[in-house]
Amino acid sequence: MKKYSELSKGELTELLEQEKKTFQKFKKDKLSLDMTRGKPAKNQLDVCLSMLKILSADGVDFVQGGQDVRNYGLLDGTPAAKELFAELFDVSPDMVIAADSSSLQLMYKLVQHGMQFGFLGERPWNEGKVKFICPVPGYDRHFGICKAFGIEMIAVPMDENGPDLKVVESLAGSDDRIKGIWCVPKYSNPTGVVYSEKTVERLANMKTAAADFRIFWDNAYMVHGFYEKDDKLKNIFDAAKKENQNRIFTFASTSKITFAGAGIAALAASKENIAEIKSRMTYETIGPNKLNQLMHTEFLKNKDGVMRVMKKHAEIMRPKFELLVSMLEELSELGVGEFTRPRGGYFISLNVPDGCAKKTVALASEAGVKLTPAGATFPNGLDDRDKNIRIAPSVPPVAELEIATRVLINAVKITALEKLIG
Ligand SMILES: Cc1ncc(COP(=O)(O)O)c(C=O)c1O
Repeated sequence: MKKYSELSKGELTELLEQEKKTFQKFKKDKLSLDMTRGKPAKNQLDVCLSMLKILSADGVDFVQGGQDVRNYGLLDGTPAAKELFAELFDVSPDMVIAADSSSLQLMYKLVQHGMQFGFLGERPWNEGKVKFICPVPGYDRHFGICKAFGIEMIAVPMDENGPDLKVVESLAGSDDRIKGIWCVPKYSNPTGVVYSEKTVERLANMKTAAADFRIFWDNAYMVHGFYEKDDKLKNIFDAAKKENQNRIFTFASTSKITFAGAGIAALAASKENIAEIKSRMTYETIGPNKLNQLMHTEFLKNKDGVMRVMKKHAEIMRPKFELLVSMLEELSELGVGEFTRPRGGYFISLNVPDGCAKKTVALASEAGVKLTPAGATFPNGLDDRDKNIRIAPSVPPVAELEIATRVLINAVKITALEKLIG
């Protein structure tokens, strides 16, 4: 197969005519397919359905850590929920808060905490300009939190090992108004990258101009591999020297293990940070939904139990990712698409030729396939080169995914051909 760049204008024009005909056929089919968000598919939501019976079974022991979980109390979660996440995070339970259902909410609250109260005796962030380092492409909702608080976002490119460390180190080391960085260290959203050991070590120990710099380590996909052989992520607390332990906030939830938005979210941090966060939480709540925590821990039990569930998710997700990647190879061969081949997580990141992402997404939508808006993976929705598209293949069943991907490929080809023809 020849690359488009090797073809004559006449050949390109002929190809464009063919692709436009295909596009019209797709339009006639009146498709309505959705690849916008990384949500579990319906059959994934059924994986843990039997968990719902646990609380109504005979002989349930509602007493956890000496307290009845049907009552108020246990501010930082049930002992079993803390132990479960401690095992998943590979930290001690006293470094964990097991909360309600959303890890994103915990992130929002901690940014708010930094802005309004400051951390560990430092001044509140909002007494001056606040900036965050945002690896791109990245998770739109992280950027949304920054936007909500008026935090300036500094985009730093990702490579196959994580964020470009030279840039991160130089920024964090020189500007004390840079207070944080967003990281999705395993099966990153949307590239699927797993941060290398060196990246974790350097981030954990880099010099920061701000004493109150925080790494928002959003480990949303820590157990979400597709293959028997898991990809190892270095434990950031092990990597960090003693004096850097306070800079780390780690997050995760069971949103993509049991039920999205209806599971347990958790935070791991140094004991000093945990004590301070708990002291603030006392004003906010008397305790999390511990019945939900009991239901989850009785069902999942421990990391082995979680991995048994994740194997079922992997069996559903793996064929979708493999199909998509195999189909997208055509774009790579034509020289009009570079994409990641994730071994886990929920997304594939596709780079089309400069200036083609928005038009591709618009064309796909016209043919009935909704994609995440182009630019969403960049702060303020601004992808300077208009080239990145986040693909979320989890929701459509395989047969529909195949059609949706054909539409996407067709849209990329039309946009790229039109650009080349000029
Ligand atoms: C990187 C990342 N973090 C957090 C979330 C949301 O997590 P939760 O449901 O725990 O709020 C998502 C959901 O897509 C995500 O991709």
